[in-house]
Amino acid sequence: MSQHNDFDVLVIGSGAAGLALALSLAHNLKVGVLSKSSLNLGSTQWAQGGIAAVIDQGDSTQQHIKDTLRAGAGLCQYDAVRFTVERGSDAIEWLLNQQVRFSKNQENQFHLTQEGGHSYRRILHAADATGAEISQALITQAKHHPNIHLLTNRLAIDIILGEKFQLPHSGALGAYVLNIETGHVEALKAKSTVLATGGASKVYLYTSNPDGSTGDGIAMAWRAGARVANMEFNQFHPTCLFHPQAKTFLISEAVRGEGGKLILPSGERFMHRFDDRAELAPRDIVARAIDHEMKRLGAECLYLDISHKPTHFIEQHFPTILDRCLGLGIDIRKEPIPVVPAAHYTCGGVLTDHFGQTDVPNLYAIGETAYSGLHGANRLASNSLLECVVFARSCAELILDRSPEHQAAEVQLPPWDESQVTDSDEDVVIAHNWDELRRFMWDYVGIVRTDKRLRRAKHRVDLLRNEINEFYSNYKVTSDLLELRNLVEVAGLIVRCAMLRKESRGLHYSLSHQRLLPKATDTILTPEPSYTH
Ligand code: FAD
Ligand code: SIN
Repeated sequence: MSQHNDFDVLVIGSGAAGLALALSLAHNLKVGVLSKSSLNLGSTQWAQGGIAAVIDQGDSTQQHIKDTLRAGAGLCQYDAVRFTVERGSDAIEWLLNQQVRFSKNQENQFHLTQEGGHSYRRILHAADATGAEISQALITQAKHHPNIHLLTNRLAIDIILGEKFQLPHSGALGAYVLNIETGHVEALKAKSTVLATGGASKVYLYTSNPDGSTGDGIAMAWRAGARVANMEFNQFHPTCLFHPQAKTFLISEAVRGEGGKLILPSGERFMHRFDDRAELAPRDIVARAIDHEMKRLGAECLYLDISHKPTHFIEQHFPTILDRCLGLGIDIRKEPIPVVPAAHYTCGGVLTDHFGQTDVPNLYAIGETAYSGLHGANRLASNSLLECVVFARSCAELILDRSPEHQAAEVQLPPWDESQVTDSDEDVVIAHNWDELRRFMWDYVGIVRTDKRLRRAKHRVDLLRNEINEFYSNYKVTSDLLELRNLVEVAGLIVRCAMLRKESRGLHYSLSHQRLLPKATDTILTPEPSYTH
């Protein structure tokens, strides 16, 4: 077996979570890192606002914990929140050691910005391109590490389970991976396999996310037999740019944090009618308020105005947003920005403990793919990058601690079997189903839900899933087919979770069940033991 097919640890994903994990393991172990495109095409690269952590003397972990719990609407797991917040300053220290450069003020102190739901300025950032800075620094470090093997254009299809092939070892033994350049499927072997594949917001028609956010890790873990939790909590970011040529561009919450005002087409402010914190209420509240006002007025967008701030302030703090808007003819120094909500973050995911362990032996999940208990029913802004780094490091601690001798090198993985499939002659099925799925998820499982809409969505998901799985069984795999197969799986999980929640809590708002139940419970789904494709 070639040295690029056999690793101590196979990390599926090269975002903040995957690379932070690889860099934390590589002094001791041989690590393979996969990306289904280039290394920086996940959400990490696109992150704008920053990373939350308690580093200011006037701030406290208690306060960050309190803000996180409040945003999470009663559903965060206190232990997970505390675990994350208490490890926040170490995570920042680690990032600084990887040469991440955060913005500083004139006194050479870190400039801390403000975002919705935070009671204190605690967001470290690199102007409005924090993710690009983190991604670049981690990629540079990883490229120079002799024990890290970066494999791009490799799309993991499924986890290889020992028990499925009657191998002498059970649990995860690696993954089948489509090499997008050659079209071949390779079996990559590993003692530990880690899902760090990001979120699933591409399941919605309108999203702030890059194209690859198709929930692959969640779908793979589910097919491998791991439980998933709280998939009904899809975060809609209140302010994505509304422009025909810019369907995917975020206007950072930091714009509101630094004084941006949300206004109606008439110029009137409205957020104070929905929450005392006005523009700085948590995202679920702001997104619902915008959705409500748009529907009430029949408006195709609302506006976010920062033009009252001095020109030099806007240029210094929001250079990326300024440039992008200028390119589309909008000068944010002088005029309001047209905005709409869009799917942004998957709060649920693969159920894990504080070390990224899933239900499947030797299979871990970290970052946006995981449900660690941190976000509850609504993620607090800038807690995601923090979660990526904190859980990557704790997962590394556990993997390093375990002696992985239990999976002997002699195990032979069965090669990918494509003896029964042919080339597809009907790719239109993929394109059609891809569009249909994302549209009905937006219409029926969006910001405001009802039982009837969810039933409609379930009916359609079931039909599509059957059709796509039949296609998968008969034709050679392509990246579009594999992503669609994962999207429909994840859509099914979202709808099932949403149907099980008989209340409105955090990001899950149902007109059929508007009250909040007194006891907050997670929605946990367990795969059938016989679940296979
Ligand atoms: P990602 O960064 O999404 O990386 C996923 C990786 O997995 C990619 O390398 C991808 O190629 C790979 N992958 C996926 N599927 C497969 C497969 N099948 N096979 C092989 N590889 C695969 N959070 C904050 O805390 N602060 C912010 O300011 C912030 N701003 C944001 C702005 C935008 C526009 C967006 C979209 C998100 C923002 N978020 C922010 C959320 C945050 O960026 C993400 O939650 C976080 O970066 C996710 O990191 P990750 O490592 O889990 O996944
Ligand atoms: C933003 O900059 O508004 C995104 C922050 C986040 O998603 O945490």
